[in-house]
Formats: sequence, C-alpha cells, structure tokens
Amino acid sequence: MAIERVVSGSEQAGEESANWALRPTRIGEYIGQADLIGRLEIAIRAALQRSEPMEHVMLHGPPGLGKTTLAHVIGAEMGTRVYITSGPVLSKATDLVSRLTQLEQGDVLFIDEIHRLPPAVEEFMYPAMEDFRIDVPVDSGLHARTVQITLKPFTLIGATTRAGLISSPLRSRFGLAHHLVFYSEAELLAILTRSAGLLGMSVTGKSGEALALIARRSRGTPRIANRLLRRVRDYAQVKGGGSLSMDLVRKSLELEGVDELGLDELDRKYQRTLSGVFKGGPAGVEAIAATMNEDARTLEDVVEPYLLQIGHLVRTRRGRMLTRAGAEHLGLPVPTNVEEGLF
Ligand code: ADE
Repeated sequence: MAIERVVSGSEQAGEESANWALRPTRIGEYIGQADLIGRLEIAIRAALQRSEPMEHVMLHGPPGLGKTTLAHVIGAEMGTRVYITSGPVLSKATDLVSRLTQLEQGDVLFIDEIHRLPPAVEEFMYPAMEDFRIDVPVDSGLHARTVQITLKPFTLIGATTRAGLISSPLRSRFGLAHHLVFYSEAELLAILTRSAGLLGMSVTGKSGEALALIARRSRGTPRIANRLLRRVRDYAQVKGGGSLSMDLVRKSLELEGVDELGLDELDRKYQRTLSGVFKGGPAGVEAIAATMNEDARTLEDVVEPYLLQIGHLVRTRRGRMLTRAGAEHLGLPVPTNVEEGLF
C-alpha cells in the first residue's frame, strides 16, 4: 500500500493538475540542477543545429526532483511532442511497439520507472534506441521470422529512482546520464517564490521569510515544497485573511505534523522506536519494521533516505543506528554506542 504523506516525494492522487500549473516549461525558467541544465543546454543546441533529435537521456534520483518536468522542458526546447509512459504500463512488447511506431520525427518518449520494464520488452528497446528500428517476430515454429519496422528518429528519456536496477545493455545506450540531486534551501526558496506568484499569493515584505521556513521543511524536494505551499495557502486563506507570515507557516505545518526539519510522524516514530526499543541500535530494518508494524521496504524507501541524508541515522554492517543529532532533535537519550564513539 502506498502511504500518502505530506512530505512524500511521490505524486499524490489528484495532485497532477496542481503540479502542472507550477512546472517550468522552458529551460530558462528551470531553477536548480545547474550541472544537468548546463549539459542539456549544450545537447539541445547541438541537436537543433544539426536538425537531429536530441540524444537519449537517462535521469536518476529520488522522486519529486523534476524528472518528468525535464522531459517536458526538453520537448519544448526541441519543439517536439512529449509522450509520457512508464515501465509497468509497458508490460507487453506490443505495448512498446505501438508506442514507438506512433512517434514522429524528434518526438520525446519519457519512460518513468524504466527499471520496471520487463526484460522481454526491454530487449526491443535496444535496436529502437540504437538504429531506430524494431524487429517484430511473426509466426512461430517452422515459419518463424522477424519483420523489421523502421522508426522515426526520436529521443528516449528514461527515469528511475533506482539506478542500480538498470541493466548495463540499457544503460549503455543512453548518450547522457545524470543523477538529480536534492535542491538547496536557496533554490527551493526561489521555486517557492515563483510558485507563490503563479498562485497569486502576495509575496511582499515578511512573506519572503515565511517562504524560507517552508523551504527548510521541504526535504530538498520541489514537489514537497509546492505541496506545503498549497497547504499553507489554504490555511492563510481560512485563518489569516490570505497574507503569509512566519507564524502562519509554523501553525499550518504543525497542523500537518511537519516539524522544522521536514520530518513527519512516521520519521519521528522510526527514531523513537530505534531509541526506545533498540537503545539507539544497531538494529536490523526488519526488526524495526516489525516493532512499528510497518513494511521494511517502505521504511527503506520512504523513511531512511532522508534520515540518512540529514545525519539522523547511520547504516552500519550490524544494522541501523540513531546518531546524536537524531536523538537530540527529538529530545531522546543520546545512544551510549554513539557517546562511546563505537561506530
Ligand atoms: N517548480 C518545480 N520545480 C521547479 C524548478 N526546478 N524550477 C522552477 N520551478 C519549479
């Protein structure tokens, strides 16, 4: 079961249209990921000068950092259409073949969660990416043969949260590969300022500081920042006559259960369990999950990455350990292992 947390990087049900309105559409509007944007600008300009489609691009990194947005931005810069699909949707080779044969010259095909393409479907991708052709088997047994279909040159953009799960034959066929990094607070503040403007919120005077408070709680993720902004906007409209203040941000995010570091109740429960039941660790994720009555994979995917990133948690060979920062943030006893410098 997918858990819907206000601080989740994944898109939530019904959120798509709200996000759509806040997305940058051109490369010049894109804030952050400076290295990637620099590389893309060159690749786009070079392709346009040669009147060729842009090279295939592989984007990896945590959810909510802008992979789909970048696919649209690339399409807009290249002046082509963008088709969005995902690995799990392309479950049969025929799904992929029909998608590919509908592409026009230079179109962008974005495949999200590309690591979930079934191996039998993935094999069709190789000649499609390399030579813009697909070999479709027809008949079987004695009459087995393949028919070659020529495709119009296109750009594939593959996205994944799990770079390690991409097979090397697939990975090697991308001309550009880039890891998206978490956004700085300054970048998130710039994004929030832009979004607040688009939402018609007044961003004068003290509201800059209020937006900075949201930025700090957004876990380096624009999707979370924009979601928190919408919650704060609702709260301001109902309780504060529409104008933004630091006090209002604090109150509305407290109502959402989001603390100053962007941690929510699940993150706090994880740290309290590690502290209270396992004396700060080391403890295995399975044991922590069983105690919390949660799924171990869920904890690994949606709780631990951010706690590791902000240094509240360390992973050792013997298991997970709460750090001094993690304990102190929640007013928990500093684990003795940490005090003795044993890890
Ligand atoms: N909205 C969401 N992500 C953004 C980004 N990287 N730049 C500008 N606006 C955004």
